[in-house]
Amino acid sequence: MSQHSADPAPNTALATVAGHRDWWRDAVIYQVYPRSFADSNGDGMGDLEGVRSRLPYLRDLGVDAVWLSPFYASPQADAGYDVADYRAVDPMFGNLLDADALIRDAHEHGLRIIVDLVPNHSSDQYEWFKRALAEGPGSPLRDRYHFRPGKGAKGELPPNDWESIFGGRAWTRITELDGTPGEWYLHLFAPEQPDFNWEHPAVGDEFRSILRFWLDMGVDGFRIDVAHGLVKAEGLPDLGSHDQLKLLGNDVMPFFDQDGVHAIYRQWRTILDEYAGNKEGPEGSSSEGRWWETGGRIFVAEAWTPTVERTANYVRPDELHQAFNFQYLSTAWDAEELRVVIDRTLDAMRPVGAPATWVLSNHDVTRHATRFANPPGLGTQIRTAGDRELGLRRARAATLLMLALPGSAYIYQGEELGLPDVVDLPDEVRQDPAYFRGAGQDGFRDGCRVPIPWTREGRSYGFGSGGSWLPQPPSWAELSVEAQQSVPGSTLELYRSALGVRRATPDLGAGDAVAWLPAPEGVLAFRRGEFVCVTNTTGRPVTVPVYGRVLLTSGEVTETADGTTVSADTTAWWTTA
Ligand code: NOJ
Repeated sequence: MSQHSADPAPNTALATVAGHRDWWRDAVIYQVYPRSFADSNGDGMGDLEGVRSRLPYLRDLGVDAVWLSPFYASPQADAGYDVADYRAVDPMFGNLLDADALIRDAHEHGLRIIVDLVPNHSSDQYEWFKRALAEGPGSPLRDRYHFRPGKGAKGELPPNDWESIFGGRAWTRITELDGTPGEWYLHLFAPEQPDFNWEHPAVGDEFRSILRFWLDMGVDGFRIDVAHGLVKAEGLPDLGSHDQLKLLGNDVMPFFDQDGVHAIYRQWRTILDEYAGNKEGPEGSSSEGRWWETGGRIFVAEAWTPTVERTANYVRPDELHQAFNFQYLSTAWDAEELRVVIDRTLDAMRPVGAPATWVLSNHDVTRHATRFANPPGLGTQIRTAGDRELGLRRARAATLLMLALPGSAYIYQGEELGLPDVVDLPDEVRQDPAYFRGAGQDGFRDGCRVPIPWTREGRSYGFGSGGSWLPQPPSWAELSVEAQQSVPGSTLELYRSALGVRRATPDLGAGDAVAWLPAPEGVLAFRRGEFVCVTNTTGRPVTVPVYGRVLLTSGEVTETADGTTVSADTTAWWTTA
């Protein structure tokens, strides 16, 4: 027996399955990075119409929902995570009518839409910030951000020692209109991304209104950017460390994971719960005939916290629904480390009743096909291609493991094609602000943002009729959707089969526990009802029992007289039914 594949569930079943109550507890959510998904007008930049044109592909892939990274009006200092108007679409992505058409069409295709919300900071071109500068010192608009006088005899030193996540100071001194050096303002990210002051009531009012705007547009949820950063410790105290960047994600900081953020989310939850599908809904609302309102709308937190236990605080019953599991994303390809993080995650989520989430790639980290191609311990920003074949083999196995775990899983566009990171982009094409600020740890995000190859031929391999804003390597022709579609054993078909099996197997995704089975060193084996998953993380074949009928494998699996041989870096799924 070699590689196995299963037929995906028929598409006609989609709406029914996707419409089940609490759909988000086991949903597979596909991240679209709009700049790089599909370009409908040939300008080299992806757009909403491009996404809409590819909805059939996403439906056929078998995901439940699509999360779109920001497409709002923005000067693009941080690829749209610097929002100048939260209620408008940037012309480079289309307009509000395109957003409306995309949401409607997605629902027609059995897919839900989750949009990105960026509440920690705005663009420096946001009306409030522009007025705060133009009105001069004492402007009440400055209270909506963190403006402070500088330290030192002439205010020439920043108000505290915080560093930007993108490198350099987290403070920028402004020049007042009369040309004199003025106050400083806080920006945890780029200087073009001033942090809001969430102590100011107008900020909360504005975001509650923005939530309603998009809920009224029909979105099914929000991914909350920097959800752990909104509240800063009182008095903005010095940190006193000269190694702040290394601490990020490993420690509670005066600007991250402060307990005060939870009050904000409790308020937001009450807004969501007013909408049809969440609890009772407003009077007169009905979800009859509208499958996507079954099970309601959700929030997912981007919250980098020191531990999964702290992450669980964000998903208490009256707060958010899900939070990304960055501990899982950061785990090496090692059975024991994976087992520990899986157990810890499930143990942390169980008491709060929230689903675990699993994610391997996104637009901020090196794609997992490249992470696993390199030796462990290099972190999530890697600059070397490593052993591509090994990386892809492990990535496929890692995906089958992830999709076998209870809870919700996130897929980042292109991982279903086995795309590696592009590690050799020339400096002149890079756009990541972190690269230019030289933040050692977080400066190579362009490599995972290169546009998707859809076809073997064409200037941008079917991404659009023109070029592409980041160059695609010629080797991507053979990784294109066209090259992999209907090809048995291709990574695209592996994802399709896996998602089809997941839909057809209720024991997958559901629940909050796995039952570990005895397994050789370096191997993970667990049972979930009538389903068994085995992942061999070692570089050599291992023999495990015959558990039943093989459903799907990421690599070579052979049945012998002694049992089943699972080849190196391979995952296999069985049904015991
Ligand atoms: C997290 C986003 O995923 C990232 O792309 C962005 O640069 C920062 N937040 C700042 O908004």
